[in-house]
Order: sequence, then C-alpha cells, then structure tokens
Amino acid sequence: MSTLISHSAVWAALKTHHTYLAPIHLRELFALDSQRFERFSVKACGLLLDYSKNRLTADTLALLQQLAVEARLQDWIVRLFRGDKVNNTEQRAALHVALRNRSNRPIFVDGKDVMPDVNAVLAKMRQFSNSVRDGEWRGYTGKKIESVVNIGIGGSDLGPAMVTRALKAYHHPRLRSYFVSNVDSTHIGEILDELDPETTLFIIASKTFTTQETLLNARSARQWLIDKLGDDKAVAKHFVAVSTAREKVIEFGMDPTNMFEFWDWVGGRYSLWSAIGLPIVVMIGMDHFEEFLDGAHQLDQHFETAPFDKNLPVLMGLIGLWYSNFFGANTQAVFPYDYSLSLFPAHLQQLIMESLGKRVTRDGDRLDYSTCPIIWGAPGNNGQHAFYQLLHQGTHCVPADFLVAIESQYQLAGHQDAVLSNALAQTHALMMGRTPEETKQALASNESLPHRVFPGNQPTNTLVYQKLTPQILGTLIALYEHKVFVQGICWGINPFDQWGVELGKQVASTLLPALQSKDAETVEHDLSTDGLLKYIKAHR
Ligand code: F6P
Repeated sequence: MSTLISHSAVWAALKTHHTYLAPIHLRELFALDSQRFERFSVKACGLLLDYSKNRLTADTLALLQQLAVEARLQDWIVRLFRGDKVNNTEQRAALHVALRNRSNRPIFVDGKDVMPDVNAVLAKMRQFSNSVRDGEWRGYTGKKIESVVNIGIGGSDLGPAMVTRALKAYHHPRLRSYFVSNVDSTHIGEILDELDPETTLFIIASKTFTTQETLLNARSARQWLIDKLGDDKAVAKHFVAVSTAREKVIEFGMDPTNMFEFWDWVGGRYSLWSAIGLPIVVMIGMDHFEEFLDGAHQLDQHFETAPFDKNLPVLMGLIGLWYSNFFGANTQAVFPYDYSLSLFPAHLQQLIMESLGKRVTRDGDRLDYSTCPIIWGAPGNNGQHAFYQLLHQGTHCVPADFLVAIESQYQLAGHQDAVLSNALAQTHALMMGRTPEETKQALASNESLPHRVFPGNQPTNTLVYQKLTPQILGTLIALYEHKVFVQGICWGINPFDQWGVELGKQVASTLLPALQSKDAETVEHDLSTDGLLKYIKAHR
C-alpha cells in the first residue's frame, strides 16, 4: 500500500489552515493587504496570471508548495521531460514536450533519440501543407483543394478543431475546414452535402486506427467520393491518414506514402502538436504552426525551471487542488472572454477529465480524497446571460478561470471595450458580492432584499494576454497540460492512461450484433438495457 498524500502532515496542516481561512471573505483578504494584486500575480511567457481573487494567503501557498515537494513534483518534472515511462500502466513515456522541443536537444525513448523522427514528420507536414495551399496538390480531376475535412474523435478531433477554430484569422483564404467526429450519420451527412468531391481532402486521424466512429465515418467518406468521382483510384488524391498504426492504415486500403506518422509516446489528448495537427497546418501554414510550437516550448521551459511560487502551471494546479480537496468544489469553470477560444472548454474537458478522472493511485490503491473536478465553460458574455446566476447567487463554490485577450482579431468600434469591461466586472462582482447594507443603499428600499444580495467570495483566476496569436495559443494549451500533470502528481495518480473509456466500448461491441440480429433477444445485459433494446428493435 503506497502512502496517500492525504495521510501526510502537510495535508493535515492544510486542513487546519482551511478551518481558519474558510470563514474569511475575499473582501477581507483584499482589505488586509494593499499589495495583494502584486503579491498574487505572475507574468511569464506573454501571460499575466492574476490569482489574487482566490481564497488563499501566503501561508496557504507555502503549505501547498510543501505538498508539491512531498509529492516529489520536481523529480517528476525531470522524469517527464527526460522521456521516462511516466505512464506506468501502459509502460510509455508521455513526450508531448518532444513534439515542440524547439531547442532540438536529444530526448531519448528506449535509448533512441526521438528528435530526428519528430523533425522528419514536421518536414513532411511542411511539404504536404505547402503543396495543398499552393494549389500544387490537385484532386483526381485536376482541381485545387478547397475543403479540408478531418475525420477523427477525442484527441484526434477536439484539439485540432479547437486550434483551427481559434486561429481562423490565419486561415488560407481559399481553404475551408471541417471536422467530423460523431458516428451519427447526421454529422458527416450534413457536411458531405456542402462539399464538392473534386476539391475535398479528407484527413483520417486516429492514433490506433481502430476507433469505431472514425473508421465508419472514413468508410462513408470514401464511398461518397468513389460514388461521386466514379473511380476508386480517386482515393489516393483525396485521402491522407495520420496514425501510429501503419499496418492498420494499409489494411484500411490507404497508400502509406499518404500517411503521417506519430508514436505511442504521444497521448491522444496531447497529440495536437504531432501530425494530428495536420488539419491545423494546412489551414494556417507551417510557419504559423511552428510559432504555435514555439509558444508551447516557452511554457515548457518555464515549467521546467521556474521556482514553484512563480511557476504558472504549478500555481494553477495547486490552487485547483486547494478547492477540490479542502473546499469540496466539484467543478472548475473556464470562461474565455475571447470568442476565438469558443472550443477551448471542450478541449479542456478531454484533456483534464480523461487525465485526472481516476480513483486509484499509480500503484492501484484506492484514494480517500476527490480528484478531478468536472470541467465546464463557455465563451465570456454568453455565459453571463445564461448560467452566471448560479455563480453569483447559487449554493456552489465554483472556481473559475477567466481568459482575457486585450485585443480581438477584429477591430470593430466599441466591441472590445464591452468584452473587457464585462470580464473585469464579473470577476470583481463574483469576489466582492453585495452585502445587505450595500444592497439596501443601492436600491433605496428593502424590497426583495434577500433576493438581491450577492454573497461574493467566488474564487477566480484571470489570465490576460495581448492577442490570441499562434504563439500565445500554444502557451495557453501547454499551461493547462502541465497544470494537469501537477495535479496528477500531487494526487498520486497516472494522468496519462484512460482505462475508463474501455468498458463502454466493450459493451457496445456486444450490443451491436444484438441490435443487428433478427433473432428474438435473450436477456444478456440488465433488464433495463434489454427492455430498451427490444423496444428500439420493435420500432425500427
Ligand atoms: O476512447 C477514448 C480515446 O481513446 C481517446 O483517448 C482518444 O483521443 C480517442 O479515443 C481517439 O482515439 P484514436 O485516435 O485512436 O482514434
């Protein structure tokens, strides 16, 4: 039995400290310290993190950093960057940092430097994306490519879709980008309806090349293309694959020269830096993609070298843990006040919950504390007119990250001032609230008073950056990746496996033949599932 971090002296000290701090309102913490903003904000890698609106003091931070020391975080950071097999249940390294290792220093897996392979694939991506963008790569009938359709799911969809959306301002003017992920034929069907087969390029993205949803969509896309162009030779000009599984790509009937490789030491949710980023590269060009990698590399260097009290991922990870384990916060919200980042919360959902949604230690012992909060969020002002009511007057403690761009991608009079004033107003109001006395004064009456009081004390981080460039986006994503690592290490769990996705896949594989068979059903699952199956079959 490994020793759980919850049994350490520092955990007990944090509990005691929480008892002292919990009754103190954030307002009081600000009133007590005129330097609170300077003390609890950090600038690094083009980001300003203001974490002063959190329910913490210098003592809290000292204890949390002590916890990170007890969890041997620094050693784990060294192991991560060195290419050790930190993913112990799959005996794999987790080397997304090698994919954006712009220093090109050698990084070894099983005694082999991975950098030459990484660089070779980047060079192949440059060559291919240039030829599509320049119009040199032609479809089967000789026309230039105009639509790029990525078919993938999970990490082979969410990351590239989010980045492609976020960097729309950098797209090639001739190209349109689409992402097909859902196995429901409505998704691919609606997109195919919009496409011209002569000018469409499909990128089939799957680490394993066994994923049911992706293979079904890929088959349907291939059939559509052959039906429309009347020749299966057309496939070679309209399909490329991104995968670690060369044999499976060939088995699927694709030419391996049209394949972009990556490696088993790249986790699906960390793969957008690899060839899985191909749809991004085709849209924004390789030079911009390299700026994106540069941004992540800068953050990597910061994470590796900055002291814990100035280290962005360490601070954000520890503050998140403080709320999850000591304030009982079950959720963590992310609100980008930057419309380009509208898909960012969805990407973070996979990145964080697939990594940290675990209940046993790395050695398989049951934990006695909670781990990953539920991640949710939506772009800035939209949320204000939907669910912020709960944040302001509900009963939950909801730590939230506000991501704020000083400049937007478009300069339209008045808009950015509205965005910025709303972002700042929300974090202020969430922190301060409005007391009954202030409410009475503001309303000049007692009418509906309890309904119009705001408790405040809701914790927020504010992350400010100049403008969402490829570089800043790379930095932001890497920041959250390393925040996940910090929390995984402190909680003693393996953030790089995802066994929890397996059971549903297995059951679906037994339900599929049952759904397709003409025979009367035998009870094989549970009474509810069998009842539902029977009902659906009777109504098809
Ligand atoms: O089922 C979950 C998962 O394995 C994710 O971890 C992964 O990103 C996704 O499916 C897609 O997998 P693949 O890239 O192998 O198709």
